[in-house]
Amino acid sequence: MLEAISELKERAIAELSQIKDLEKLEAIRVKYLGKKGELTQILRGMGKLSPEERPRVGQAANRAREELEAALQVARRHLLEAEKERRLKEESLDVTLPGRPLPRGYRHPLSRVLAELKDIFVGLGFAVAEGPEVETDYYNFTALNLPPEHPARDMQDSFYITPNVLLRTHTSPVQVRVMEAMRPHLPIRIIAPGKVYRRDDDATHSPMFHQVEGLLVDRRVTFGDLKGILMAFLRQFFGSGVGVRFRPSYFPFTEPSAEVDISCVMCRGRGCRVCKQSGWLEILGSGMVHPAVLEMAGYDPEEVSGFAFGLGVERLAMLKYGIDDLRLFFENDLRFLSQF
Ligand code: FA5
Ligand code: MG
Repeated sequence: MLEAISELKERAIAELSQIKDLEKLEAIRVKYLGKKGELTQILRGMGKLSPEERPRVGQAANRAREELEAALQVARRHLLEAEKERRLKEESLDVTLPGRPLPRGYRHPLSRVLAELKDIFVGLGFAVAEGPEVETDYYNFTALNLPPEHPARDMQDSFYITPNVLLRTHTSPVQVRVMEAMRPHLPIRIIAPGKVYRRDDDATHSPMFHQVEGLLVDRRVTFGDLKGILMAFLRQFFGSGVGVRFRPSYFPFTEPSAEVDISCVMCRGRGCRVCKQSGWLEILGSGMVHPAVLEMAGYDPEEVSGFAFGLGVERLAMLKYGIDDLRLFFENDLRFLSQF
């Protein structure tokens, strides 16, 4: 019996010294110390022993159990430590590894230009107004001195929702809405930025684009005031060296009317593909508010006068950043957008 116990103990310890994981350890514990384990079997057989042998075998068996339990403890601790070591090594930080860059967000170039336009005009004393993108025929055309059947309606081919409701083709209807809302208050001094829609689609014309309308109404407003404000704006936006040209033009809602060109920023006025060899680029329409428009909005054209202008935001952004196709603004290609 005693030999069996000591042989068993040695065998168990030898087995323990071989193991590499906790599962094996548990298997060994069950094999020797479990309910049906070898040592347990020996203890069960003690009933057959003589009364003198019993205490000696019992003692030896208990000691063997204690030693085995201690050996199991030690082996478990070693295994856990080895495992920890391994993980520390595997998961160690390499502080020299370059970081993963977080993609940075950019403001869309049109948003930047719009923000800059607002800044400049607010600095010149203008407030910012807004109007609906879905507009009635009355505000988009009729109240701007473009009655039904007026041939100039064809200059702005439109998206109609019903025969009397359309997507606005310009921001000029906001002129009328603001005058109606402010009447009889003077002066009126607003800009109205926003989206407009036309049946256009090529490298310099998009079916949706942005305009910024400007309107100033007061007593004794002159064409000189219009020129002064536009010059101040253009010098701030493009720099003091920019050449500016007022060219006679026609809009039914202004009289007299002028379109404004700036010297081509691509070729500095020498003539190139972008300015079609002319050295000049059109950026806005403007003029003195037509007496009929003032009257329809409820102001007396004998007492007040005003000027208005409408500029194309995409056009300004193209010139500012040297972009030759406005469709790039709407393709959402990050290779393009992240340059700004
Ligand atoms: C107008 O829309 C007038 N409402 C401007 C105005 C306002 C005149 C107040 C007088 C007083 P026009 O159709 O020319 O005018 O458009 C103005 C500007 O919008 C153009 O100079 C151009 O820069 C831009 N534009 C016109 N059509 C498009 C288009 N399809 N895509 C991008 N920009 C356009
Ligand atoms: Mg035009």
